[in-house]
Amino acid sequence: MKRSLLTLAAVLALAAPTALVHAQATKPATNTSKLKVGLMLPATGTFAALGTAIENGFKLYITEQGGKLSGREIEFFKVDDESDPSKATDNVNKLIKRDNVDVLVGSVHSGVAMAMARVAKDSGTLLIVPNAGADAVTGPMCAVNIFRSSFSNWQPGFAMGQVVAAKGHKRVVTIAWKYAAGDESVKGFKESFEKAGGQVIKELGLPFPNVEFQALLTEIAAIKPDAVYTFFAGGGAVKFVKDYAAAGLKRTIPLYGAGFLTDGTLEAQGADAEGVLTTLHYGDSLTVPRDAAFRLAYAKTFKLQPDVYAVQGYDAAQMLGIGLAAVKGDLSKKAEFAAALRKAKIDSPRGAFTLNAAHNPVQDIYLRQVLGKENKVIGVASKSLADPGRGCRM
Ligand code: BEZ
Repeated sequence: MKRSLLTLAAVLALAAPTALVHAQATKPATNTSKLKVGLMLPATGTFAALGTAIENGFKLYITEQGGKLSGREIEFFKVDDESDPSKATDNVNKLIKRDNVDVLVGSVHSGVAMAMARVAKDSGTLLIVPNAGADAVTGPMCAVNIFRSSFSNWQPGFAMGQVVAAKGHKRVVTIAWKYAAGDESVKGFKESFEKAGGQVIKELGLPFPNVEFQALLTEIAAIKPDAVYTFFAGGGAVKFVKDYAAAGLKRTIPLYGAGFLTDGTLEAQGADAEGVLTTLHYGDSLTVPRDAAFRLAYAKTFKLQPDVYAVQGYDAAQMLGIGLAAVKGDLSKKAEFAAALRKAKIDSPRGAFTLNAAHNPVQDIYLRQVLGKENKVIGVASKSLADPGRGCRM
């Protein structure tokens, strides 16, 4: 026994200096090693095109920086999250535990993003949300290592409530997918619309990603409200706009929506979307110099016109770049990374924006109207709109 203890001590004594030398030799390399970025986005299902646009935008910014941020080359790891919240925790753990990513970027669906935020908060992994608007992510779930480059579900809804009230509509029916994004978009709309004297007389809903709208459209026709407010996106938005027109409602009851209703969808919606008014933090006819350069580069690279999702992906990469520059590539400096982003003015194609204390964009929400194949910006519905960040304690 004594002999084996002595042997162990001798082994440790010999091993210790070697381990020390090894640690010293590898230490400087941590800041110049490849930065592992985990992209958790939908590649299949109704939000697949949104995931592609985000990835394109993100990669475009990295390419513009010569493929590196703060001297670190970027290595991508990808998971198709299928916009399925029930698989989200396993999916995000694959990126963290199997692939050892330094940064998580995702996702589109609010339910998936909430699962990601839970894991990011527990593990301390940096998370940048490039779409999902779940209010909780920059509300009760807020954290020093969680940021959003997009919007909160409350923001476009709240802005549209003011627009619809100003148009003189009094009785409105809402229709949306019944999950965080739809519920919170309607809640934001209702908050400002009812404060201005309007009334939401019926809230209709169907489970995500269901697109069987017929029975609900029949109900809207029977109620005859002054207007309809809606939240749908991606493939579901295409079908909703077409079904609304086919049911004859477009001629009789004005349709309003959070801008996802007509963003990235106009080719498929065609004339059925013409004239629809929506609110969003991006549009097709902005006179922002950064936007002109972005649109040109995006179209040249991907042979596609960009949309709001591409902008949010581009800005997620910009935000990562700003934070990394402040910590000279060392992501363990979380407080310094966050401090740099909190005071940054992010030069986005949507127009410059800042972050609120909960790390959600403070941004102009535009009023847009579909004219041909464009979401033409016809005004600012809400200037520098900050999400209230309810429940965030940091
Ligand atoms: C969401 O789930 O938060 C969402 C999905 C698509 C567009 C906008 C929001």
